Amino acid sequence: MRRILSRLIVRFYQRWRIFVMSSLSDKKVVTEGKPKLYQPVVLKGHGKIIFKGEVVLGYPISWDVFSGTGYMEARNEDAIIEVGDNTYINNSFNIVADHGRITIGKKNRIGVNVTILNSDFHNLDPKKRDEGSQSYADIIIKDNVFIGNNVIITKGVTIGENSVVGAGAVVVADVPPNTICAGNPAKIIRKL
Ligand SMILES: CC(C)(COP(=O)(O)OP(=O)(O)OC[C@H]1O[C@@H](n2cnc3c(N)ncnc32)[C@H](O)[C@@H]1OP(=O)(O)O)[C@@H](O)C(=O)NCCC(=O)NCCS
Repeated sequence: MRRILSRLIVRFYQRWRIFVMSSLSDKKVVTEGKPKLYQPVVLKGHGKIIFKGEVVLGYPISWDVFSGTGYMEARNEDAIIEVGDNTYINNSFNIVADHGRITIGKKNRIGVNVTILNSDFHNLDPKKRDEGSQSYADIIIKDNVFIGNNVIITKGVTIGENSVVGAGAVVVADVPPNTICAGNPAKIIRKL
């Protein structure tokens, strides 16, 4: 009885958190699809966020599920984030496109606390630091890619089909298909 009650409380608590965070999202930013949510997620911006087929955001049996929040933003009008069918993104992700695209393909498995940013967001010139960045470039994550926990992917990177990115990697250059990479900056460990 006690176990059933505690499960009900947990489920209610999580639904309430998801509801509250969803109310902070921009209603018009999602132009296609509806992801399944296991964690609170905030979707923001003046651009477009597209979910193709079945996309799952958050994971119920993983850390941060009851404390973290996923955040996805297509910041400016020309920004597009697309997530492909059968892709799972684990808890507490941070995915922001300033301008241009972030394309995440099909059947991808993305770990906890992964950050994907297609811009530097701050100007590298010290005198213009808060004037925004001129420096942005599309990110493409092809199909069936496995990205470990706490990975950061920076502007302009393409990750090839079937590749694996090791936990904690900072990916600043393209990763060929069928390759394992890891480290900061990420280097190829071996071919699959
Ligand atoms: C990248 C990974 C898949 C490699 O696994 P593997 O093929 O068994 O690799 P090994 O353990 O044999 O390591 C091979 C080499 O890569 C290095 N390496 C492995 N993982 C690394 C990582 N995350 N960062 C830096 N170096 C790493 C090892 O130190 C080793 O180096 P060496 O040859 O100089 O000794 C694994 O280490 C990893 O990071 N898994 C992701 C786990 C995760 O976050 N899961 C998400 C759950 S939702």
